[in-house]
Amino acid sequence: MSGAAHPLVCRDLSISFGGVKAVQGVSLALPAGKVLALVGPNGAGKTTLFNLVTGNLRADAGEATLDGESLLGLKPWQVARRGVARSFQDLRLFTHMTVRENAMSATERGSWFWQAGDAKARAARVEEALAATGLSDLAESRAVDLAYAERKFLSMARILAAEARIWLLDEPASGLDLSSRQRFAGLLRAANARGITICLIEHNLDVVAELADEIAFLDRGVVLAVGEPQAILRDKALAAIYFGERAA
Ligand SMILES: Nc1ncnc2c1ncn2[C@@H]1O[C@H](COP(=O)(O)OP(=O)(O)OP(=O)(O)O)[C@@H](O)[C@H]1O
Ligand SMILES: [Mg+2]
Repeated sequence: MSGAAHPLVCRDLSISFGGVKAVQGVSLALPAGKVLALVGPNGAGKTTLFNLVTGNLRADAGEATLDGESLLGLKPWQVARRGVARSFQDLRLFTHMTVRENAMSATERGSWFWQAGDAKARAARVEEALAATGLSDLAESRAVDLAYAERKFLSMARILAAEARIWLLDEPASGLDLSSRQRFAGLLRAANARGITICLIEHNLDVVAELADEIAFLDRGVVLAVGEPQAILRDKALAAIYFGERAA
């Protein structure tokens, strides 16, 4: 699968760390303009899969392609400039810079996401990203002074400001309360409506059920199932694995 229907495709991707087969022969395709949720227990290899696609790690085998062109061997900034933005589980904000500067960092020359365009347009994009994430009033605050949920939204503002067409989001909603989660869901829906393709790593199955068009279930580095959300979420064998009740 590749091309317009599936812009980002992984084929047989693998990587081991010592004896740990973190990702083993993973083949997966992101459906264009949809949300694919990547679900699985801790240590399943979800973040590692992102790292392989974004050039943060080099695969032992297999390939990842964007519009049919290989991403392997590219540096993270080169993948980003092709239109793939990611967030990190540990956020990686510039904690002593302001909220606006953090969002701006996604748009400036030299940044991973830099694209030609005038400074005014980039500044407008940043203000839009701050408004969309509810951070306009905090634009001059330092990231270090933000509450937890605000930091999560700032990492989303950075993604929005980058104007990427594919978002790889690593647990962006974890630890958010219900109303923040709803706000977050609104952001993702608005992005989808603009044609953005999203891969979402998420542990909260309510969030997954609400947002995902498709789920890929990963365990011990292997994709055990891909399919329509209700089918995956109702699967008792997968639930047993997810909740740690499998036979040893
Ligand atoms: N850089 C690394 N060096 C060594 N081992 C690693 C490295 N990165 C990941 N691993 C191991 O690879 C496996 C998969 O880790 P990964 O972080 O991808 O899991 P995950 O599905 O994202 O889990 P979680 O839900 O806890 O974030 C784990 O056993 C982890 O300890
Ligand atoms: Mg992870």
